Amino acid sequence: MADTVLVTGGAGFIGAPLARRLADRGDRVVTFDREPARHADIPHIVGDITSRAEVRELIERVSPAAIVHTAAVVGVAASVGAGLMPTVQVNIAGSVNLFEAALEHGGVRRILDLSSEEYYGDFAEEPLGEDAPAAPISPYGISKFAVERLGRYYAEVRGLPYVAVRLSWVFGPDFPRARLPETWLQDAAEGRTSALARGGDQRIDFTYLADVVEGILAVLDAPALEHRAYNLASGTGTSMRELAEAIRRIAPEWDVELGDGGLELAPGVRAARKGAYDISRIRALGYAPSYGLEDALRDRLAGIREERTDA
Ligand SMILES: NC(=O)c1ccc[n+]([C@@H]2O[C@H](COP(=O)([O-])OP(=O)(O)OC[C@H]3O[C@@H](n4cnc5c(N)ncnc54)[C@H](O)[C@@H]3O)[C@@H](O)[C@H]2O)c1
Repeated sequence: MADTVLVTGGAGFIGAPLARRLADRGDRVVTFDREPARHADIPHIVGDITSRAEVRELIERVSPAAIVHTAAVVGVAASVGAGLMPTVQVNIAGSVNLFEAALEHGGVRRILDLSSEEYYGDFAEEPLGEDAPAAPISPYGISKFAVERLGRYYAEVRGLPYVAVRLSWVFGPDFPRARLPETWLQDAAEGRTSALARGGDQRIDFTYLADVVEGILAVLDAPALEHRAYNLASGTGTSMRELAEAIRRIAPEWDVELGDGGLELAPGVRAARKGAYDISRIRALGYAPSYGLEDALRDRLAGIREERTDA
């Protein structure tokens, strides 16, 4: 298969719509995931990224020209307690398996790794650029940081064409975890009042899934890349209180009891100080977010209402 794009984590929240978009525009795509296929018409290989043999066989079989690496244990909550070791194994060892197999096989022109705002830890400023210091505070963020540093080693010493794309809170259809704004939108669609004891002052750069897919394509398609990392988000910071106001504007019957302060992402685990990304680097590659927050929330709420009617 010539010029195939391999999407690891291709059954996931971001991987599946990305694979759909690539296939729809005419790219050859293969997805890889430990979960079954999300698209009947896209070749899918079930396997475990932590298995060196399986990943090596995958790369030999697919012979990808490009890889978008989205397979991971995702989120701060998933990375604490019993989740810490799987986070290390899947995110760090799994990525190394992929890097090694890609190098060994050859022919990979770009390997794009999805990283996170957790890489930075507490944002020192807003908007935050890619050269800001990395000081992750959660095991998840530390795993993302480790993968990026390994990626840089593989790029600079071993010649792997690695690039990191740092996302911030993405929302859209089929979001697999309980997180804002999806939970509040679900409540709004169900006619429930929401409650959040702490978090009104937490700032986040929210990005709509459709924009994330386009941003990934911009990095994937760029003829040359000047940087090893690109922020990909909306470029706007929004507090949870402002998020609540935006949802109230599109669903006036909904309300939330919202406390002040920062968010807690798991019991006893505070969220880092976050906010707007500086997205000028990725803008220079032709990316521009097409959804403002309110449009994205409206679109997603309409989607949830449709899903409820179909169910
Ligand atoms: N969703 C966000 O807001 C967000 C924000 C920042 C970064 N990211 C990053 O984007 C990437 C994709 O996240 P997502 O939101 O689509 O998460 P997701 O959980 O929906 O997707 C991850 C996929 O990886 C697969 N996977 C996990 N372990 C595996 C293994 N051992 N072998 C093979 N497949 C395995 C899962 O089955 C899943 O389909 C991740 O790297 C994540 O860290 C996401």
